[in-house]
Amino acid sequence: MHTESQKVGWLEGIIEAVHDGILVIDRDGIVQIINEEYTNITGVKKEQIIGKPLVDVRPGARLPTVLKDGKPRAGVFRKEKSMEYVVDMAPIFEKNEIIGAVSVCKSIPEVYQLTKELSKSKKRVSQLEKTFGRIHQAKYSFTNIIGKNERLKKMIEQAKKAASSDLNILLTGESGTGKELFAQAIHNESTRNRFPFVPVNCAAIPSSLLESELFGYEEGSFTNSKRDGKVGLFELANQGTLFLDEIGDMPLDLQAKLLRVLQEGTFRKIGGLEEQRVDVRVIAATNKDLLNMVQKERFREDLYYRINTVHLSIPPLRERKVDIPDIISFLLEEQKSNPGVEIDLEAMNTLQQYDWPGNIRELKNAIHYAINMCENNEVKFEHLPETIKKLFSSPDKQIRPLQPLEELIKETEKKAIINVLEQTGTSVKGKKEAAKLLGISLASLYNKLTKLHIQI
Ligand SMILES: Nc1ncnc2c1ncn2[C@@H]1O[C@H](COP(=O)(O)OP(=O)(O)O)[C@@H](O)[C@H]1O
Ligand SMILES: [Mg+2]
Repeated sequence: MHTESQKVGWLEGIIEAVHDGILVIDRDGIVQIINEEYTNITGVKKEQIIGKPLVDVRPGARLPTVLKDGKPRAGVFRKEKSMEYVVDMAPIFEKNEIIGAVSVCKSIPEVYQLTKELSKSKKRVSQLEKTFGRIHQAKYSFTNIIGKNERLKKMIEQAKKAASSDLNILLTGESGTGKELFAQAIHNESTRNRFPFVPVNCAAIPSSLLESELFGYEEGSFTNSKRDGKVGLFELANQGTLFLDEIGDMPLDLQAKLLRVLQEGTFRKIGGLEEQRVDVRVIAATNKDLLNMVQKERFREDLYYRINTVHLSIPPLRERKVDIPDIISFLLEEQKSNPGVEIDLEAMNTLQQYDWPGNIRELKNAIHYAINMCENNEVKFEHLPETIKKLFSSPDKQIRPLQPLEELIKETEKKAIINVLEQTGTSVKGKKEAAKLLGISLASLYNKLTKLHIQI
């Protein structure tokens, strides 16, 4: 047990330690206590005031009225000579009876200083929020996706439908096929479009750092540093979309944590005790065969099914060569610094025959290269990147690798038919239109489909 005098000692310690001025009067209005800070703020010393009626030593003091009506008051402004301060006042009760009153005051310069700092911090937060929002805005929408290939068109329709739902989406496709472009378009089409679109490349961040990037950490959670703590990308993407690119590269232990957020909508910062709630839609992308990884136990099966609710698979460019000319025209028009560049037939044919292992990203790079290499605003075969030229030049460039004429004709026929069918579609109506465009009868089109082994 502690003695009464010890308790009084503590209270005195507390009163002196407080950074505000404190004055206490008893029920008769006699000043009983003031602390050092009260003297600092008002200039009144202890010996001038203790044991005296407050109304005598501080004319105009409002504290005695609190004794009378028992009502607290907050933020009362006081000015005395050069001193300005604000006062909060409250009655002190014991067993429903007023036994005194306390006044707590803060000097105006201090209040002013704090207000100034607060407003500065508020401004900074709002600036950072704006910058963050700008950085994390999705640039692209569905109108930026070029393609009339049937498979792609179907995919765009599915993606638009998925955008209006709040389901998680898995985008698969080779590198450069437009996975990020689709993710942005989906975000922009969704109700989350006023909130951030935050992309994270799981393969580009070392796995030891990925967890803190995604979930953040609490102040002082790393023993060897005094870091201030960190806000994770999940938190930053709140109400928006988190794009988890290359999700196949996410370490297994993190996959478990990710699954938890997707299921519960909550997560815990590294070193944190509290569960935090977030509202984030996840769009994941990969060029890996996730199902195969699941079988090899390199990807969690439960997570796979969780992110696979909507699966959109983007076809590689070589399977939709019909789109190449449109993409090229778009890229040429987009060139503001080199307007009016055109492409000759031989270069165009070469680009249509090439297989584009790097897909649209590679096509984009090739066109930018060619635009820089060309003269007189015309892209010719010689201006194409070496890797492409190499494949198509034989000792005599004009002659392609030797091939019997019959085979060459078949191949050309096959390509033409596939190209047209990609535009018209493969329904009966589409086939009829294709036959018309090709200048052959419908029967002869069916004939050729069988003979040329065209699978549609
Ligand atoms: N259908 C398309 N129409 C126009 N540009 C496209 C299309 N698909 C991809 N691109 C462009 O190709 C580049 C690569 O796309 P990106 O989305 O980064 O591919 P991925 O994420 O699959 O590797 C980007 O510059 C993108 O804008
Ligand atoms: Mg990508």
